[in-house]
Amino acid sequence: MPIHLPPVSRRRFLAGSLAAGAGLLLDQPLFAATRATDVHTWALLSDTHLAADRQKIERAVNMTDNFKAIALEVCGLKHLPATVLINGDLALGSGEPGDYAVIADLLQPLREAGMPVHLTLGNHDDRNHFWTALADAGAAARPVADRHVALLRSPRANWFVLDSLEKTNSTPGLLGDSQLAWLARTLDENKDKPALVMAHHNLPVMGDPKMAIKDSEQLLEIIRPHRQVKAYIFGHTHSWGIQQDVSGIHLINLPPTSYLFTPGKPNGWVLATLQRHGVRLDLHCLDLHHPAHGQKVDLKWRAT
Ligand SMILES: [Fe+2]
Repeated sequence: MPIHLPPVSRRRFLAGSLAAGAGLLLDQPLFAATRATDVHTWALLSDTHLAADRQKIERAVNMTDNFKAIALEVCGLKHLPATVLINGDLALGSGEPGDYAVIADLLQPLREAGMPVHLTLGNHDDRNHFWTALADAGAAARPVADRHVALLRSPRANWFVLDSLEKTNSTPGLLGDSQLAWLARTLDENKDKPALVMAHHNLPVMGDPKMAIKDSEQLLEIIRPHRQVKAYIFGHTHSWGIQQDVSGIHLINLPPTSYLFTPGKPNGWVLATLQRHGVRLDLHCLDLHHPAHGQKVDLKWRAT
């Protein structure tokens, strides 16, 4: 199982920070790696849009400040999530090496707290810059040679983490034949648990079809008949929402941690708690006064 970014020990974290010469994270709290972990919970983030310039403001939002606030909140939970998943558009615009240096740095508190972090790529990422900057991720085994995909196993679900980046700074996405073949084959081989499929881009049925995965129909042809697939989780639209495909697959659109395209929508993150026959989603808004803050959604899995 490829671990994209495994947890780091406190000693390694400190050594790394000091070796970098900047002590970049030493102003942030350090958390003991002895916190209780809930193996059924996953922190789901998307569209961080972090920039090399930590002061960068986009649509009146400082993306670094937003991400740091969320990382602090996740690290401060009574029970730590088993894993943090960040669903693409990690970088601000074109996935520059300096963006990923900042991202790697800002991920350290989560990893030092004991949580592995798994990352997908969005249309504002650059795969080669990402692989180069995050050496641990680049070193992971690649089930599909030119894509950043993974099968993540957990007690109550298997997560199929896909790579829908087709071309940096071009809005639509594409999975491609080799990745779809891997997905179909790996779903065939893993029918024992509910399957959750995650990629950055939306499907045409939810959000602007022009922004969606170009080969959405091929994806649906694979996941609809694989009855263990219960949800498709994506970001990209910067618009929190949930719908259900005609097949009963839940479509979960994560909010951005960064800026919004539509004012008034929530930005923040989602804590997903896997149940035996579904999932509970807890929406954590950055604006604690947002009417959606604290929203809890219980989704029941379709029949297998
Ligand atoms: Fe985005």
